[in-house]
Amino acid sequence: MNMCGIVGYVGSKGAKTVVFEGLKTLEYRGYDSAGIAVNNSKITVVKDVGFVEKLEPHLSQLPASGNAIGHTRWATHGVPNQVNAHPHTDMKVNVVAVHNGIIENFMLLKQNLKDGGVEFKSDTDTEVIPQLLSIELNEAEPFTAFKKVIEKLEGSYAILVMIKGDHRIFFARNHSPLVIGKGEDGRGENLIASDVVAFLKHTKQAIFVKDGDVGYIDGKNIHIEVDNQKVGREITEIEWSAKDAMKDGYPHFMLKEIYEQPDAVKNTLLDARIDEFAHKLDDGLEIVAAGTSYHAGLAFQYASNMKCRLIISSEFSALYRGGSVLAISQSGETADTLQAVRAAEKRGEKIYSIVNVNGSTLTRISDQVVHTHAGPEIGVAATKTFTTQLAVLYAVDAALKGNPKPTFDLAPAIALDGDMKALAKELTKTSELFYIGRGPSAATAREGALKLKELAYLHAEAYEGGELKHGPLALIEDGVPIIAICPNDTHKKKMMGNIEEVKARGAKVFVFGEQGDKELEHLSDKFYGLPKIKEEYSPMTYVIPLQLLAYHTAVLLGKNPDKPRNLAKSVTVE
Ligand code: AGP
Repeated sequence: MNMCGIVGYVGSKGAKTVVFEGLKTLEYRGYDSAGIAVNNSKITVVKDVGFVEKLEPHLSQLPASGNAIGHTRWATHGVPNQVNAHPHTDMKVNVVAVHNGIIENFMLLKQNLKDGGVEFKSDTDTEVIPQLLSIELNEAEPFTAFKKVIEKLEGSYAILVMIKGDHRIFFARNHSPLVIGKGEDGRGENLIASDVVAFLKHTKQAIFVKDGDVGYIDGKNIHIEVDNQKVGREITEIEWSAKDAMKDGYPHFMLKEIYEQPDAVKNTLLDARIDEFAHKLDDGLEIVAAGTSYHAGLAFQYASNMKCRLIISSEFSALYRGGSVLAISQSGETADTLQAVRAAEKRGEKIYSIVNVNGSTLTRISDQVVHTHAGPEIGVAATKTFTTQLAVLYAVDAALKGNPKPTFDLAPAIALDGDMKALAKELTKTSELFYIGRGPSAATAREGALKLKELAYLHAEAYEGGELKHGPLALIEDGVPIIAICPNDTHKKKMMGNIEEVKARGAKVFVFGEQGDKELEHLSDKFYGLPKIKEEYSPMTYVIPLQLLAYHTAVLLGKNPDKPRNLAKSVTVE
């Protein structure tokens, strides 16, 4: 359950509500099931299958005061049902735990506990934690007992635990994100969660918990230990505001985030560190990324003269030949990307990264980081983090070529919203379609198809225009929709040839090209115009209508674009 979200609160604001609200902001991490536990004179737990909102009717069963922990789940061990939902307790309900990660040795631990007479309720790996702690508590005081349990665990985890009669929330971290929100002085509160967005409403002072840390929070103290020694940790002031993590009148986070792109890109380009960052990158660089971030890398390869190689994170171990690494990641927590970076780090190579989430694991293991200033991206689909990654990469390219930093006007692309809603209606009638492009537009096509697949669950394939004739053309028949990305660049003439090829086989062609391009307009079943843009930068604007198209198609098909099935925002399993 490495993509779950966890929240804990100690304080007097009404713990169950603070945790419930926090879980709602973390739902992008997982949304199979959710639960909350409150600890006052006894431990009370509520949980349900489905989105976090499903907990609302159960909240009245929880006491109004006390400490609380909560969890939103993305199932790995055990099907998503009520019993497997977190929090989990020991048999006597003296200990309660939430966990994000995978306890790899849980089978052995569970068997030993069972042999000793412990009865388990769920199929999860997590349940061993409260069960083990319950036994350790017979021998040791709570914090010592908690540390003993943590020593027994192998795997990845961010764990929160409460113990009946104890006023603290205990925590431990290994390879799963965890961050403490330091409550405002005098209020007697502290928070802890998988992501800062869960507590931005209450505090912007964050302490990032590191791998190997164990500790506890109570109303006054934040106590962290490494190898049984108390350690201090610096406080980071978070720039994001609570409003950034709200829908702000939009029906979905994704739409809000698409509309935020002009500002996000502008803010990212203001970062003065990009120049210095660019000049540190050397030829022979291996670029590593997954999903949408990989597509940003692909767009960069078309723009750049650098001798670099792009590798999908999960293929890194098979393809890496050495040299410094540039990792691109929104979350900075993607397991595939982190394992690639760690492999290079072990060889003593330099690690550079482009990351959106401040304090994330990737930022900590990199030698140099440039942040995309996109603000929190809550929708599972990457939108503004893609265009801000492009902004950094294009600025890097400009710096290396000695060109001025580029600027972008994204408003005309966003203005195609109404047209994309109309086109989305067409797409709801189909079950498969193709996106084609050449040069930088091949990257745009891939990103457009990925968005449609993940949000509308339609089978969309992307091909370089010239590749169709090597196989996929056999799939083209009457009425198959083709989305053709065809800016007025050096590839346009050949792309027009590819459009002719699919038209000749009966395809219905929707073309995105430069405003006023009459010959393209003539060739298209429907033409959508965008302002002139430098060839290598075209993915920046051309991707935006494709994001809107995927959004509207998903909504028209009754899918929730913020929470596509089977997916999670940070993919922290390999
Ligand atoms: C795209 O919409 C997805 N959210 C996904 O492909 C994502 O880009 C990928 O999982 C990589 O995530 P990262 O940028 O956080 O590393």
